Amino acid sequence: MSDVELIARDGDRVGRKDPECPLAIDGLTVSYGDKPAVFSVDTRFGKGRMVAIVGPNGAGKSTLMKAVLGIVPKLAGRALFFGEPFESVRSRVAYVPQRASVDWDFPVRVIDVVLMGLYRSLGIFGMTSKKDIAKAHACLERVGMADFARRQIGQLSGGQQQRVFLARALAQDADLYLLDEPLAGVDAATERAIMSVLKDLKSEGRTVVCVHHDLATVRSYFDDVLLINVRKIADGPVASAFNDRNLQQTYGGRLGATHIAELQQPAG
Ligand SMILES: Nc1ncnc2c1ncn2[C@@H]1O[C@H](COP(=O)(O)OP(=O)(O)OP(=O)(O)O)[C@@H](O)[C@H]1O
Ligand SMILES: [Mg+2]
Repeated sequence: MSDVELIARDGDRVGRKDPECPLAIDGLTVSYGDKPAVFSVDTRFGKGRMVAIVGPNGAGKSTLMKAVLGIVPKLAGRALFFGEPFESVRSRVAYVPQRASVDWDFPVRVIDVVLMGLYRSLGIFGMTSKKDIAKAHACLERVGMADFARRQIGQLSGGQQQRVFLARALAQDADLYLLDEPLAGVDAATERAIMSVLKDLKSEGRTVVCVHHDLATVRSYFDDVLLINVRKIADGPVASAFNDRNLQQTYGGRLGATHIAELQQPAG
């Protein structure tokens, strides 16, 4: 077989192992019970792109992220990161879960949360080097949280915690960032700070995939979009895929035509 290995999929369809593709999802189906939360989703996220995953509450956005990372089991399908299964390329992939899903009541300092992002490079017995600590501080600096390094994470506001989780992901120095609603519930200044960091990641050739709820900013923030409501409704460049018909299909009656028309106006 050639260096581009062919993978038989579902018996008949065939997908390619592409080391250049940060994430290729084929036939992904996930179910918590009888009803699938994600059904037969095929999509590709391109290198150096900023991608929004958009869909209503309960559409399966978080489930899709968790399933590709093996946090919840797949019923069918596969996800390849840089042409490899997740286990082989773990360190190249950073994930920040949806904030509501993390309970930070236990006592851990902000700096230690960020150092967790570096754990693969930590020395034996978990000893941290001065270099690691300096790097963790630099990541906190990048998200404007340097002054909070010694604070307990549970003593921060939601938006501040969000910045710290982003700093932890930055410390990991990944090539693909999967962020589940990084802008949920943050103020305008934090949103700007986070977006500026994400744009820097993109300009460094990294790929950023965000579950995103604010339809009004999809056009200005993202290159590509995946519209999902259990099934994939559409994917591709925002300019073509983020249109009335696809939004209507994704949100059904919940989004009126007037609302959609407003969202179609270019931002700014
Ligand atoms: N652990 C679980 N056990 C059972 N059902 C679950 C579980 N997690 C999610 N679900 C269900 O799966 C569906 C998809 O949930 P998911 O969290 O992926 O949606 P989402 O698109 O991320 O929604 P939101 O915008 O509210 O974050 C929902 O109907 C949800 O109730
Ligand atoms: Mg979610």
